[in-house]
Amino acid sequence: LQQVPLFYKLNDKQLGYIADICTKKQFKAGTILFREKEPGSVFYIVHSGSVKLYMSNQSGDEKILAIFKSGDSFGELSLIDGKPRSASAQALEDSVMIALSANNFLELLKWNFEITLCIMQELAQRLRDTNQHVHDLTFLDARSRVVKNLILLANKHGSRQGHTIQVKLALNFDEISRMAGVQKNVLMQVMRDLEDRGVISVAMNEFTLHLDKLRSGS
Ligand code: CMP
Repeated sequence: LQQVPLFYKLNDKQLGYIADICTKKQFKAGTILFREKEPGSVFYIVHSGSVKLYMSNQSGDEKILAIFKSGDSFGELSLIDGKPRSASAQALEDSVMIALSANNFLELLKWNFEITLCIMQELAQRLRDTNQHVHDLTFLDARSRVVKNLILLANKHGSRQGHTIQVKLALNFDEISRMAGVQKNVLMQVMRDLEDRGVISVAMNEFTLHLDKLRSGS
């Protein structure tokens, strides 16, 4: 629990209290933790693995809102406002979550202002990210959106070595194209072009971004 940003400022006794009210839950890759529009009753912190938060339309097309990894938390909105889940959550790989019931989550917010502030800061960040995404969808062309999305994924989920960032993510091209808000054929075209220029190299479930090449021409 000490590694969870939400609980950084707590002492051992406080962490002990939280450990008593949390449970650990394991999810196999592909498991749906909850679906959009269901009532929400649990707050989750990712212990290991990763989860995608997404909305879908009636034909089953998905729009990924976020990917969360170790230390990230989600599922707070419906517990705070009592409305249904605003998005669905699915494990991208075998994952372990720390789960808190709605009552215990709300008690935690009353009990410790540092935790409440951390949740508020996270909500503020997500609103800023969403505003930026709306801006990009409105003002950037498709190619720029793809490049920007790859850089965002690399910065958030990649491991950097010198001029390269390696990103291991169980995302397919459909999912990446919907994150960037472009058609899949546009994504494939831009990716091929970036590969030709040596900006990215793509392999199974991972891609590598070559920052030096990115600066010199894309
Ligand atoms: P909740 O509505 O309970 O369930 C879905 C969760 O997805 C939501 O709480 C948030 O934790 C998360 N979520 C919803 N919208 C976004 C967004 N735009 N960016 C990041 N996370 C989100």
